Amino acid sequence: MTKISAPRPLVAGNWKMNGLASLLAEADKLKQRLADPAVGGKCEVMLCPPATLVGAMAKAAAGSALMVGGQDCHAKASGAHTGDIAAEMLRDAGASAVIVGHSERRADHGEIDAIVRAKAEAAYRAGLMAIVCVGETADERKAGKTLAVVTGQLAGSLPDAATDANTVVAYEPVWAIGTGLTPTVADVAEVHAAVRAALVKRYGDRGQGMRVLYGGSVKPSNARELMSVENVNGALVGGASLKAEDFLGIIGAYA
Ligand code: 13P
Repeated sequence: MTKISAPRPLVAGNWKMNGLASLLAEADKLKQRLADPAVGGKCEVMLCPPATLVGAMAKAAAGSALMVGGQDCHAKASGAHTGDIAAEMLRDAGASAVIVGHSERRADHGEIDAIVRAKAEAAYRAGLMAIVCVGETADERKAGKTLAVVTGQLAGSLPDAATDANTVVAYEPVWAIGTGLTPTVADVAEVHAAVRAALVKRYGDRGQGMRVLYGGSVKPSNARELMSVENVNGALVGGASLKAEDFLGIIGAYA
C-alpha cells in the first residue's frame, strides 16, 4: 500500500453575517502576520467574509498567504435568481473556495443534501474548492444517531467528482456552534475516523488526502487539543475568526 502523507491543514474563518468594511482591518492584520513563516507556515489560512466583502478582501489579500472564500453559492452559473450569487461570481471577485451546506443554511433555507451537492458541483465548475459541512443536532446525538447522520449527509452532499484538491469536509456538530460547547476529544476522534473511513471507501486514495476540519466553538484555548486529534486536518471557525488576535491564536495550534 502506498504511504500517503498527512494533508496540509487548513484553518478557515467563517464570518457569517458579520462585518462591515471596517472589519477588513482585521484581515489586513492577519495578512501581515502571516508574512512571518513562523506564524502561518504549517497550515493554510482562509477567511470567508460576507459576499459584500469578498472582492475587497481578495484584492487586499492578493499575493499574500491569506486565501478568501465565499459562504454559499447558487447551483447555477447565472439567471433569474434574485439575491443569489453564483460560484463563478465568487471566483471572479477573487475567492478560491466556497462553504456549502453549512448547518445554518440547511436550517434557515431548507438546503437538503441534493442541493448541497449541486452547490459543490457548481464550485468545481467555477474552479473553486468546496468546503462541505456536515454535523448532527443535539437531539440526533442524544438519540445515538451521530455517525449515521454524518455519514448520510456525506453520502448525499459530496459529488462523485470530489478530490483532495477540490473538496474539504467540515464536521460541525450543530449543538457546538456558537455555544461554547465542544465534543470530547474521544467524540471528535470517533466522528472524524468515521468520516475518513467513508471518504476512503468511496474515493480511495483521494479520500485519504481530503482534509476534514472540525468546527464548533473552536478557540485559542482549545484549538491545540482539538487539532491534535487524529484525522482532524484543521478548523472551521466562526466567532473567533472575527478578531485577528483570536484567529491567530487558533492558527498557532500549528506553529
Ligand atoms: P463558532 O466557531 O462561532 O462556534 O462557529 C462555528 C461555525 O459554524 C463555523 O462555520
